[in-house]
Amino acid sequence: MGRIHLRQVKKSFGEVTVIPPLDLEIEDGEFVVFVGPSGCGKSTLLRLIAGLEDTTSGNIEIDGQDATGLPPAKRGLAMVFQSYALYPHMSVRKNIAFPMRMAKMSKEEQDKRIEAAAKALNLTDYLDRRPGQLSGGQRQRVAIGRAIVREPAAFLFDEPLSNLDAALRVGMRLEISELHKRLDTTMVYVTHDQVEAMTMADKIVVLQAGVIEQVGSPLELYRTPRNRFVAGFIGSPKMNLIEGPEAGKHDAHTIGVRPEHISVSGDSGAWQGTVGVSEHLGSDTFFHVNVDGFGEPLTVRAGGEVDLHYGDTIHLTPNAEQIHKFDQQGLRIA
Ligand SMILES: Nc1ncnc2c1ncn2[C@@H]1O[C@H](COP(=O)(O)OP(=O)(O)OP(=O)(O)O)[C@@H](O)[C@H]1O
Ligand SMILES: [Mg+2]
Repeated sequence: MGRIHLRQVKKSFGEVTVIPPLDLEIEDGEFVVFVGPSGCGKSTLLRLIAGLEDTTSGNIEIDGQDATGLPPAKRGLAMVFQSYALYPHMSVRKNIAFPMRMAKMSKEEQDKRIEAAAKALNLTDYLDRRPGQLSGGQRQRVAIGRAIVREPAAFLFDEPLSNLDAALRVGMRLEISELHKRLDTTMVYVTHDQVEAMTMADKIVVLQAGVIEQVGSPLELYRTPRNRFVAGFIGSPKMNLIEGPEAGKHDAHTIGVRPEHISVSGDSGAWQGTVGVSEHLGSDTFFHVNVDGFGEPLTVRAGGEVDLHYGDTIHLTPNAEQIHKFDQQGLRIA
């Protein structure tokens, strides 16, 4: 089990309302990712679910039971933080066992669960080491192990990978996704990382200033962002947003085109511009192109072999089927 329903949940710190009344349904077994700019309330929302913060008003229901006033330990959820806060003087085994010892679980049951968690997380060979003798990724796995042994109804992760280097992040991302498939337990995951959100989530919740801007599958948000904010937030590099006469031709206040939906065309194209900075990634090249009348430079994704340089003239054509239109209020025009 692991259904979490938020009904009109509001959070204020003193006079300041960080989360205006909000509704959200997280279904059993779902992998839900919260994304949004720094300070938008992602951690606060997670902490409200965990019970580490009190709601100002509204209700939180876990598996059909009102959990609004329950202390964290009674909610059956396990939280994994960015700083994994392991006990440095304890072995991996003792660190993982800690919550079970607190709950006075039998030694036999503890050993059984430690063994299973260690197996799931590839930590079997490290159980007698101390955290100081582990890599960052291994430490993060120990922190997850400590959560797994509690057999929670849901896991709550607050940017668990942001302390790891790029290669480890990719590895851990896959491990957490795989763990989710195997355990089939609800996971609620906060991240800044676009790729994590797109690749791990069944459902992404985009937040801005405590307000849910859109909820949907990664591809729903990518294909049909409800407004300009979501359009600019989901996708990397960001969608190009163009105002003025070019948008007017489409009866829109703003049009949006993703860098991957603009092609570099030979000697003519819909748009002509001047190449600014190019970013060569090997497989792809991102050109930043100045087009008269567009304001911001356009970002264009081209193949790795396209040979254009700073100051060159470039001809571009957007894929007509991939142009997003927004009105003056920033809402999507169907
Ligand atoms: N204990 C507190 N007292 C007062 N204000 C708080 C408190 N905790 C958080 N806030 C404020 O609530 C807002 C949301 O904070 P929160 O930590 O949830 O943001 P976040 O989306 O997790 O940001 P980040 O991506 O930087 O971690 C921020 O403006 C923050 O300053
Ligand atoms: Mg946060």
